[in-house]
Amino acid sequence: MTMAETTRIARSVAELRACVSAWRRAGETVGVVPTMGALHRGHISLVEAARAACRRTIATIFVNPKQFGPREDFSRYPRQEEADRALLSAAGCDLLFAPPLGEMYPEGFATTVSLAGITDRWEGEARPGHFAGVATVVTKLLLQAMADKAFFGEKDYQQLRCVKRMVRDLDIPCEIVGCPTVREADGLAMSSRNVYLTPAERRVAPALHRTITALAAAARAGRSIAAETDAGRSALLAAGFAGVDYLAVVDAETLAPLAALDRPGRVLAAARLGAVRLIDNVAA
Ligand code: PAF
Repeated sequence: MTMAETTRIARSVAELRACVSAWRRAGETVGVVPTMGALHRGHISLVEAARAACRRTIATIFVNPKQFGPREDFSRYPRQEEADRALLSAAGCDLLFAPPLGEMYPEGFATTVSLAGITDRWEGEARPGHFAGVATVVTKLLLQAMADKAFFGEKDYQQLRCVKRMVRDLDIPCEIVGCPTVREADGLAMSSRNVYLTPAERRVAPALHRTITALAAAARAGRSIAAETDAGRSALLAAGFAGVDYLAVVDAETLAPLAALDRPGRVLAAARLGAVRLIDNVAA
């Protein structure tokens, strides 16, 4: 498509498949970018990565109730399909798949995809059931789209590792591509939930990225991970965070905690600022 065209919308799996089949018959490769909408520059960077790697690009928008806990923000999660579609059109996305709830979870839907081990800690511990909801909907989206490649942000690092594991375990024929986190100028990772931050909280928020970056540097320099993690936690509270759900240096693939940086690592963090819970991560 040219930049001037409006991204076409499919509401049903049948429409999505008809479109993808036509592309395939024409010998075109397909990339898919799964999202829950409320698109920002981070999502658009995924669309750009898909366009660079594949002839055709699909974005999906579906606010998936199965990945929200009972006290989470499902009902108030930002929904702005027209604005999202305009951004996708400007980014050159060919197709938006935005199914209604009943198309994804028809009456009698009874299947759950879940992962063991990799979901035991971090977001999995803080948000019981979250990754089963993510794994179930991502499995469906990948099988519905049958794209060559699917693009996910490193911002949700545990999600990315889960999706990679799941695709390998279930032999889903789609390559999972992880893309770098897009940040504001002060380091805050872009997230659809940043709109919930008050101006005062927004000023505090970049301390999360500063803290995990400092912890990654300390771990690389061979300093005590336990002591530096404690110092990082204190720094977050001193900066104004109300609580730290976790701050840890972990194995970059299994996400098991590391006492020493003896293999590729990742610093993971989740911290609360007022009513908002921010997560972030960097390579260690
Ligand atoms: O990262 C997200 O936006 C969601 O978890 C995803 C992958 C679209 C599944 O609903």
